[in-house]
Amino acid sequence: MKSTRAYAHTNIAIIKYWGKIPGEQNLPSTGSLSLTLDRFGTETEATFADQPADSFVLNGVLQTGESLERAQHFLDVVRALAKRSERCHIQSTNHVPTKSGLASSASGFAALALATAHQFELELNPMDLSRLARLGSGSAARSIFGDFVLMHPVSPIDQSGGYAEQLHTHSTLDVKMIVVQCSKMQKAISSRTGMLHTQATSLYYPSWVSSHYTDLESAIEAIRRGDFKTLGELTEYSTLKMHATLLAAKPGYWYFDPLSLTVMSRVRTLRDQGASCYFTLDAGPHVKVLCPAHEAEALAKDLAQIPDVIAVDIASPGPGAYLL
Ligand code: PMV
Repeated sequence: MKSTRAYAHTNIAIIKYWGKIPGEQNLPSTGSLSLTLDRFGTETEATFADQPADSFVLNGVLQTGESLERAQHFLDVVRALAKRSERCHIQSTNHVPTKSGLASSASGFAALALATAHQFELELNPMDLSRLARLGSGSAARSIFGDFVLMHPVSPIDQSGGYAEQLHTHSTLDVKMIVVQCSKMQKAISSRTGMLHTQATSLYYPSWVSSHYTDLESAIEAIRRGDFKTLGELTEYSTLKMHATLLAAKPGYWYFDPLSLTVMSRVRTLRDQGASCYFTLDAGPHVKVLCPAHEAEALAKDLAQIPDVIAVDIASPGPGAYLL
């Protein structure tokens, strides 16, 4: 097989994960619940190359340093699983701003997992493919699947869990996610570094972990009931709680910009005026707004009028990762 191409979409967490179980397995310390989007994603091609080491080109730029090492480390895992030794050239294009809280690592590692698993003829079921993607980035485990996706919490008894699965429900919810881009800057603190710092120093971190299971269960239940209001309230609750743990770290830090706060305030004002919309924010300044499908156009138009907003896109629930 000469090369394999795969595409994975971004996903945005509704109930966030933040924090890792110590060890090499990149296991999240909480479960999470996300929506895979039909906009934004990563296309990746894996090709066997007659060269001494793996190479990685991202958005046309040959990678070095940490970015290359993460890809090489991932390929080492795939090679070990496949009991093979070929080196690879990886070519990826992010159709999403990189390192800015728009989940480029989620789509990036999901596409890399799918492309390399096929290239090395690994026969993985979807759960194991999700586990493989998780080794690259926790949120990538969810981008293997489409629509609402549950990342199972890891059991403290036997470490089972740590993989994602599409939430199979007969929900009547018809939602959109409005993505409001607030900055062109890349984030200064990676989510990995931020998580480790938070769990080492934040006074709020233990309650973030212990309170999280209830949020997850309630959100799943809200999706099953088709209860958008409860799902939206939990979305804001989870994101604000996550960001509060970072603010309470030592030293505290944050991923939002003044413009992110302006957008979040506008979402609340629109809600006071009768709209159904709830914000969420990841490890970067962009604000994502969950709303019923029929309200999306009007809300997006309003949010696009906020001065300095860079772009506003309406995303629908999207598919899981696929081969091209
Ligand atoms: O696993 P990472 O590095 O992609 O971290 C994702 C962290 C958040 O986006 C903030 C939350 C989440 O569950 O996606």
